[in-house]
Amino acid sequence: MAKICATLLAFFLFLSLDLVRATDFPDAEIHTISQVSTARNSAIALLSDKLPLPIIPQPVSMSRSEGFFTLDPTTGIELPEDAEWRRAVKCFQRKVNTAAGFSPELNVSGKKQYIVLKKDTKIVNPEGYTLEVGKKKIEIHASDAKGAFYAMQTLLQLLPENIESRKKVDQSWTIPCCIIRDEPRYSWRGMHLDVGRHFFTVDDVKRYLDLMAMYKFNRFHWHLTEDQGWRIEIKKYPRLTEVGAYRNGTIIGKQKGLEEHYDGQRYGGYYTQDQVREIVQYASDLFITTVPEIEMPGHCLSALAAYPEFGCENGPYETATKWGVFRSVFCPKPATFRFLEDVLSEVTELFPGAYIHIGGDEVIKESWEESDFCQQLMKKEKLQSEMELQSFFIRHMGQFLKQKNKKMIGWDEILEGGLSDDAIVMSWRGDRGGIEAARMKHEVIMSPESHCYFNYYQAADNSKEPLAFGGLITVRKVYNYDPTPEELLPDQTSYVIGAQGNLWSEYITHIDQLEYQAFPRALALSEVVWSPQEQRVWMEFKPRLKEQLRRLDVLGVNYAKHILDN
Ligand code: ACM
Repeated sequence: MAKICATLLAFFLFLSLDLVRATDFPDAEIHTISQVSTARNSAIALLSDKLPLPIIPQPVSMSRSEGFFTLDPTTGIELPEDAEWRRAVKCFQRKVNTAAGFSPELNVSGKKQYIVLKKDTKIVNPEGYTLEVGKKKIEIHASDAKGAFYAMQTLLQLLPENIESRKKVDQSWTIPCCIIRDEPRYSWRGMHLDVGRHFFTVDDVKRYLDLMAMYKFNRFHWHLTEDQGWRIEIKKYPRLTEVGAYRNGTIIGKQKGLEEHYDGQRYGGYYTQDQVREIVQYASDLFITTVPEIEMPGHCLSALAAYPEFGCENGPYETATKWGVFRSVFCPKPATFRFLEDVLSEVTELFPGAYIHIGGDEVIKESWEESDFCQQLMKKEKLQSEMELQSFFIRHMGQFLKQKNKKMIGWDEILEGGLSDDAIVMSWRGDRGGIEAARMKHEVIMSPESHCYFNYYQAADNSKEPLAFGGLITVRKVYNYDPTPEELLPDQTSYVIGAQGNLWSEYITHIDQLEYQAFPRALALSEVVWSPQEQRVWMEFKPRLKEQLRRLDVLGVNYAKHILDN
């Protein structure tokens, strides 16, 4: 009975989408979704894998009309003469070129049919768009190249899944006639990658970015420094990568009590500044802002191994070879601040985006409690506790970043001891930190470990799963997450700017495993952060997800295959 109710509910919600009309669009014979379903005479058809438009994330509104546009070498693209708009169609051109063997040319006359992109200031959200597919013409409206890019991503999803093929496929490239109106719910649609515990190559990162872009994610949170490895070249401090990028072995499996086994292999790697620029540019071409995280004052053993003078203890320190939280943290000395400012000066040059993440999580205060310097500093600055000393530290870095015109982000521990002006809070220990920060009128990104930690297990029976961090977050649980907590008052909800999925890599050693942990949960999250909350229905998402998985098959993505029944 519950199943039938859910099915009917899904069906009526699907019908109640705000359908757009096909004025100015003579080519298309428009049928609303309800007409299509009447023709099929079956509500279930909409929930089957024959769903007309299995797009993820689900657009705000869409209607299917009769017929198809066929993409072929007679197709051109017309668009505003603007470098950003050209960038917006680059990914589409590249995929069509590879899979179909022709590249739709830009702004050339004499083509038989066109994809026309128009700048339309009536579309308020810069990431929003309308897309009208007729039999002989496709028309896209957006006020900004960002919206045009997302329209092109939707168009790719309307093409057969082989459009994702890495080699030429002989088939016809049809796109169902339809009208779509779309915009994202949140401006921050993030995926994170910890390259500190395990290192991922430039090509791995690019693949991750490609997959993110398909599902309209727009923030890549690149966790670049950790106790177990410093991964970004800093010219002024070469030992960060000469020493800090390597560790002498890695713990095998999970630590059980005192029993620890190590592989004894030196492990490491880092990105040169040229490689960082290459990735930032690659992401930017996919309309993804790369947000670097440089951890402080904790999770910094690799930096202390290279420059022990910035710790509170005598050292020596060693890049960590096991997981966990360590007591050695940066000491808030003037020399440490100079060092971190120098590091961030290079980092801000490499990352043109608005945001820098300074970590701030899991800072063990013991070395500060034991340090005469720290205790004197607390007296001088009238700081009542080590929590306040942590705030003093973060505030100092926040002021520095403000001078550099950057917005500082920190994990929710930065609330403890007083929040710095303008800091953005990334809420990971549940929603609590996010709620508190939103009430204080600070922007918030929700990334609670209860729903957004994709390094956790995804199957209830994890006996056959690859080793993971722990916990259980099913794809359904991710799907049912609402980043805007009910506790917030209407005027506070706008401070929740989005949500993010995190991939901590203690047990994620290679790209295959990264894909396994990230997918398909990332697709569920993409809909959480893009689609209207009232339109999200698990039973209706599931068949679309199954359709999308065929695309991931074409791409050879090693997604978890057994999780849909959870
Ligand atoms: C975190 O998971 N320590 C942010």
